[in-house]
Amino acid sequence: MSEAELPRGVTAAFKVPRHVAIIMDGNGRWAAARGLPRGEGHRRGVEALRRTVRAAGEIGIQFITIFSFSAENWSRPAAEVSELMGLLRRFIRNDLAELHKSNVRVRIIGERSDLNPEIGRLLVEAEELTRNNDGLTLVVAFNYGSRQEITRGVQRIAEQVAMGRITPSEINMEVVGHFLDAPDVPDPDLIIRTSGEQRLSNFLLWQAAYSELVFISTYWPDFDRATLEAAIREYQQRERRFGGLVAKTGS
Ligand code: FPP
Repeated sequence: MSEAELPRGVTAAFKVPRHVAIIMDGNGRWAAARGLPRGEGHRRGVEALRRTVRAAGEIGIQFITIFSFSAENWSRPAAEVSELMGLLRRFIRNDLAELHKSNVRVRIIGERSDLNPEIGRLLVEAEELTRNNDGLTLVVAFNYGSRQEITRGVQRIAEQVAMGRITPSEINMEVVGHFLDAPDVPDPDLIIRTSGEQRLSNFLLWQAAYSELVFISTYWPDFDRATLEAAIREYQQRERRFGGLVAKTGS
């Protein structure tokens, strides 16, 4: 890409990761630090998400995956779960048209079968409406857990074996990858977790094999384009060797 083709404000040295995945953490602590209810932290978290999707498109990121509700989040108090469900509903209802207009393709990963049918329909609507968009892909991990995703994939592979369509010796890494929730989405180059916690918490365990991990102390509601760019700069300092010897930075 020549300098002239790069998005405004981006220099050639600013090599953009193709896929950035984000663990949006710290909404509750952001609210507690201000004496506000946790729900206010989540609402401000949705605003941070809007900013981030916009910035990602401007920077030239092609895929962004967000951890919006984990399979383990059901264990939170019922009121908070219902608040998070309401936020997702409103996010899709209020923002889908705008995302579509901006040529964003929405994809959903996670378990659908045990979701409230109305939410299930909204997720399908978001995917269907934006199916042919070829700008930024926004992958929403909802009711998502990576071990659950891998387990579902293994069950489907076992079904293929039982039907005689594939033999056990034909199962390789490609086959396993093919039976995950979004097999055509490339692995994340960069995974960011906000709020200072340093773990993956059952997020994209298979796909993260060679991802660079960047942990930042900012609480998610304060995340913005500058924080995203700082995380990308840290990613660019890393040497990505993929187990080999050749250093490839930020490519
Ligand atoms: C972590 O903060 C965040 C979540 C569990 C949910 C993330 C959700 C949003 C940003 C808003 C919803 C967006 C959509 C699209 C539904 P936390 O509550 O774990 O914070 P804490 O660790 O400080 O308590």
